[in-house]
Amino acid sequence: MHFSLDDKLSLLREFAWLTDAYMIDFFVDNHWHKLPPCWQSSLDSIAPSDWPSLLDLDSAVHRLLPLSLLCARQCVRQMSFDRRPVKGVDEVGALCNLPPSSAPTEPWLSYAEELLNKSGHNRALPHELRVNTKPKKQHEIRRVAEVVVWLSDGLEKATNGEVSFQRAIDVGAGLGHLSRLLSIHGHDAGLQVQTIDADAAFVRRAQQLDAKLARMRQSSSEWSAPQRHTKWIRQGDTLIDVDDQLRSCLIGLHACGDLSSALLREFSTNESVVAVVSVGCCYHKLNGGRDKEHMQVWSESDDSLKEDSSGFPMSDAFRRLDVRLSFAARELACHAIEQYADRMHSDPLALKVHCYRAALEWLITRRFPDKRHEGLRSVKRAADMDFWQYAKLALDKRPDLQPALEAAESDPDCVAAVNGLLVHWPRVVSFYCLRTMLAPLIESVILTDRVICLSELGHSATLVPLFDARVSPRNLALIAYKTNS
Ligand SMILES: C[S@@+](CC[C@H](N)C(=O)[O-])C[C@H]1O[C@@H](n2cnc3c(N)ncnc32)[C@H](O)[C@@H]1O
Repeated sequence: MHFSLDDKLSLLREFAWLTDAYMIDFFVDNHWHKLPPCWQSSLDSIAPSDWPSLLDLDSAVHRLLPLSLLCARQCVRQMSFDRRPVKGVDEVGALCNLPPSSAPTEPWLSYAEELLNKSGHNRALPHELRVNTKPKKQHEIRRVAEVVVWLSDGLEKATNGEVSFQRAIDVGAGLGHLSRLLSIHGHDAGLQVQTIDADAAFVRRAQQLDAKLARMRQSSSEWSAPQRHTKWIRQGDTLIDVDDQLRSCLIGLHACGDLSSALLREFSTNESVVAVVSVGCCYHKLNGGRDKEHMQVWSESDDSLKEDSSGFPMSDAFRRLDVRLSFAARELACHAIEQYADRMHSDPLALKVHCYRAALEWLITRRFPDKRHEGLRSVKRAADMDFWQYAKLALDKRPDLQPALEAAESDPDCVAAVNGLLVHWPRVVSFYCLRTMLAPLIESVILTDRVICLSELGHSATLVPLFDARVSPRNLALIAYKTNS
């Protein structure tokens, strides 16, 4: 079945009451009663062991559930991008309509297969690049680096040498793990590697890691470290001189919020940029992320963080349709649906913490109606504690809110009321589950806007599930290239 953009947007609008709800308001705003009555009774009767199957959209649900719920779940599955990872660069090439690589390519191992041993190191990476790099990052950089090197070759072939790039620029490079690997992998392809990051401390640390790599590679003179720049990129900034003779490929690996939009805009407007590989993240930070309810996330006085609204939507089509996504919905799009299902499977009781936080919000607002969504200490192993132990730790650094707890503990009616909330922890988890079920649809809508925006500007783009979503939940890479310079 083929669904149009209108279908996806209508489904999202229909479930806005769910995607826009904040979990901590579960009791304050009585979220449970927003569910259709047949959903309430059905979810009340399912066991915690049934929750994960609700979230595994590729599997059948072995439970009698209301048809409207099953239908919503199926529509989300059909309307969202496939998250099952590709198996190698040849598959990426086929999806992106580029010729197969000239050099023989190896299919990628699955994440489990690529782990060398219990250390979690990736067998496909040279030893010196595994040092100081987490297994998740190893998994990602290995694939992105291979795709970029392959893209430089494939593009040249597809355009009979008319278009190629000689430089890869990793934007939002963090500690520089990807660029370090690229500087080795891309060396034979003649790729120059540069990075940009706003955080000077990250750039310094990246340079220290470069120096360490240089010491480890003493025997190999065939290597030059990436050139690293510190720069805060704002919407509308030009990253590369348009008259630059070197052609570039821009890369953003988990470039947060507006940074991904800035990257795509640079690709579409700057002739010297001929390709882009962009994996987004932190969608809640789009448009500056200042629309979080009850909370001013950025300080109004900090001009450097003021952004315009060009992060989302980017395309004229979405603007015409006046598509908007709330902060809560965009935050939901960052959820790790597969990891959450695994956690539900292995330790459903640990999820009680969502109920504890919602009950604490109820207590706080009872005493201080204006104090909503306050930042509290996160409490480890909360499920091993009773609610009052949890609440004390959560409010540890908030003496201003502690009176809410002290008053409640000494009031038997209030203790009874809290106990009355806590018995409903499975409802809180069910509600969380329903919201999480919608996450892939929201991410798909955000990424569709990016693809449409590029197509409006004359470039075709493909979304490729590059990573194992269980390891790296933001696994969809937007890949685009130009075929004439
Ligand atoms: C989620 S981290 C990803 C780091 C790295 N690419 C990786 O995969 O490990 C995002 C990085 O983007 C940088 N960043 C965020 N917004 C930026 C901006 N507007 N200009 C430059 N760098 C930015 C941050 O400092 C951070 O290092």
